[in-house]
Amino acid sequence: MSLPIVTATRYVLPLREGGSLPGVVEGNDLGTYVLKFHGAGQGPKALVAEIIAGELFRRLGLRVPELKLCELDPAIGRSEPDEEIQDLLVRSAGLNLAVDFLPGSFGYDGSSGEPDRATRARILWLDAFIANVDRSWRNTNLLVWHKELWLIDHGAALYFHHSWMSAQRFAALPYDATDHVFSTVARDVPGIDAELAAEITPELLTEVIALVPDEWIADGDRERYHGHLCARLADRSAWLPGGAR
Ligand SMILES: Nc1ncnc2c1ncn2[C@@H]1O[C@H](COP(=O)(O)OP(=O)(O)OP(=O)(O)O)[C@@H](O)[C@H]1O
Ligand SMILES: [Mg+2]
Repeated sequence: MSLPIVTATRYVLPLREGGSLPGVVEGNDLGTYVLKFHGAGQGPKALVAEIIAGELFRRLGLRVPELKLCELDPAIGRSEPDEEIQDLLVRSAGLNLAVDFLPGSFGYDGSSGEPDRATRARILWLDAFIANVDRSWRNTNLLVWHKELWLIDHGAALYFHHSWMSAQRFAALPYDATDHVFSTVARDVPGIDAELAAEITPELLTEVIALVPDEWIADGDRERYHGHLCARLADRSAWLPGGAR
């Protein structure tokens, strides 16, 4: 299995609220996408985290906008006057990550009602597992679309890969849930732990890691992601919000 590939045909506009300056583009399949660029600040590793984390969330029953790969010819940004954007597009020639654009969605701030408790606990467990620090009230990285909650922006997760800390160290890395949007359900997390952990099989991890294109991942690193995630799965007492069961 691999992610579908589209080609960008038009650069529509930059999403300035995003730190990595993602842009909205149209694809040759007539779809509209949020493009996350391999040439942006954190480089392709942020896109690797987006795929592994996003596809894991999806397989565990949470809503994540569809992910595709997008071939970019920087010439499509020719009429974009901003030099920073021109530079970003030129640096990002080739494959980038396309996130299905959810038109009319808005950022989750709790004011339109909360998702059910079980969903909140599930999201908290998974964010702790992938060490996602980007789900605070300041920046929930949750969108509300058609009255449903959608998870976006997992580029800061799996941060062990920036310096390749050892699998043992990552496995035992505590997760600080204090700032998490769903920190109030932390005490529910131990109760769903065994069930969720059992859903994440080694095969499932292999499957989501296989979706990362060769362009963004070094030889042998797929096994390293797999090893780190399996180690963290086996050592949950160290990081589980709400304490070990
Ligand atoms: N699929 C989408 N559909 C609609 N809007 C989106 C989508 N993805 C992102 N956005 C909008 O663009 C913003 C920036 O996207 P995202 O958080 O993925 O980028 P980022 O550069 O990683 O941001 P951050 O500054 O949070 O690190 C989001 O907060 C949201 O408002
Ligand atoms: Mg964001």
